[in-house]
Amino acid sequence: MGSTGFENCWIWDSIPRLVGLGGLMITAAVVGLSKGYFWGIGVCSFPVLWPGFGIFYKKKSWKRPVRVYMDGCFDLMHYGHANALRQAKTLGDVLVVGVISDEEIIANKGPPVLSMEERLILVRGLKWVDEVITNAPYAITEEFMNTLFNKYNIDYIIHGDDPCLLADGTDAYAHAKKAGRYKQIKRTEGVSSTDIVDRILSSSKCAENDNQRSTSFNEMHRNEGNILHEASESMTSRLSHFLPTSRRIMQFSNGKGPGPDAHVVYIDGAFDLFHAGHVEFFRCARQLGDFLLVGIHSDQTISQRRGFHPIMHLHERSLSVLACRYVDEVIIGAPWEVTKDMMRTFNISLVVHGTVSESSSRDEVDPYLIPKSMGIFKAIVSPKAITSSSVASKVIDNLETYKRRNLKKKQSEGKYYEEKKFVTGD
Ligand SMILES: *[C@@H]1O[C@H](CO)[C@@H](O)[C@H](O)[C@H]1NC(C)=O
Repeated sequence: MGSTGFENCWIWDSIPRLVGLGGLMITAAVVGLSKGYFWGIGVCSFPVLWPGFGIFYKKKSWKRPVRVYMDGCFDLMHYGHANALRQAKTLGDVLVVGVISDEEIIANKGPPVLSMEERLILVRGLKWVDEVITNAPYAITEEFMNTLFNKYNIDYIIHGDDPCLLADGTDAYAHAKKAGRYKQIKRTEGVSSTDIVDRILSSSKCAENDNQRSTSFNEMHRNEGNILHEASESMTSRLSHFLPTSRRIMQFSNGKGPGPDAHVVYIDGAFDLFHAGHVEFFRCARQLGDFLLVGIHSDQTISQRRGFHPIMHLHERSLSVLACRYVDEVIIGAPWEVTKDMMRTFNISLVVHGTVSESSSRDEVDPYLIPKSMGIFKAIVSPKAITSSSVASKVIDNLETYKRRNLKKKQSEGKYYEEKKFVTGD
């Protein structure tokens, strides 16, 4: 594959776009821009240009920023991917992410569920990602490796400690390892795409049963005992191995509250199966103020109010939302109704709700009654007509492909482990 396929490199192209999007991002931008824009101008110009970043300079003491590269398909992206990229970022200063092209995924794994456009929105929306290379190849060939080193100035290529194999069963990172420019991170335990697919399947079965029996709310109520029983059964089959720790939540957090005169914007929802529609919606909402506070409903609240369980659990959904660069803080287990007390507690100056959302509540009470009466409610047109259910249906439509893909993966992994001798942990 020639280098023409990777021309489409996305870099921060303007400073004003970044200012005001949160400290973390600005820090990342300074590192990202320093080489391209200011390299050679002289170190002295920095404190003048960026008076607020003194601590940051001292810590880094002006060495050339270390650029690290990590690639992936990022199909059905989950907080495990986000965590991998977060870890990759700790191994360098600038994180460049290669998003593998549709053609390459088809050739190596079978068709992806999400389009390139959606996958790009998801990856660019992560707070640890500085630059993106679109249409990256699946295999790091010697040629592509040299493109990474010479054109993108990459210092290290990063991958998780799970084997990544090409169709012929060879290690996709062999060249990078040989060149001594390979670094490894630990894979996140607790979630995998296969796991998510299983959960989507059992949840769709559960919904089918519900539909067969009754559709109206009143009838549901009459059968409540049965439904609860069935629901708890399906919940055990979908139990997540994910154990949320306070440390992980801290690693994903910005750790900063709103500034003294900040306009706090509030959004709430389930944010199940975190998708490109959520990212775009957060981006728009963030522009309406200075601080975006996201309320995430608990699993129980969602099943009570909407009549179905979310596929991802509260803490998983919280991590996915926290990983988004437009989000400043989350409320883990937000109330269904936006109360006056809540608005005072968090000094919320605007409550926003999207026009595209999951099937409406069974409840007659409008959860936004209070902000509406106070005149601080705004409905915004959702930039993308994607919902968690549309993502789930896509997965179900692609089920056969998924099954074949996983079988293939297991086979080639088996071969790899048999032949494996020693992998350095560096
Ligand atoms: C509350 O938010 C308003 C903006 O809506 C801001 O001017 C004010 O300073 C905030 N109050 C506090 C105590 O942060």
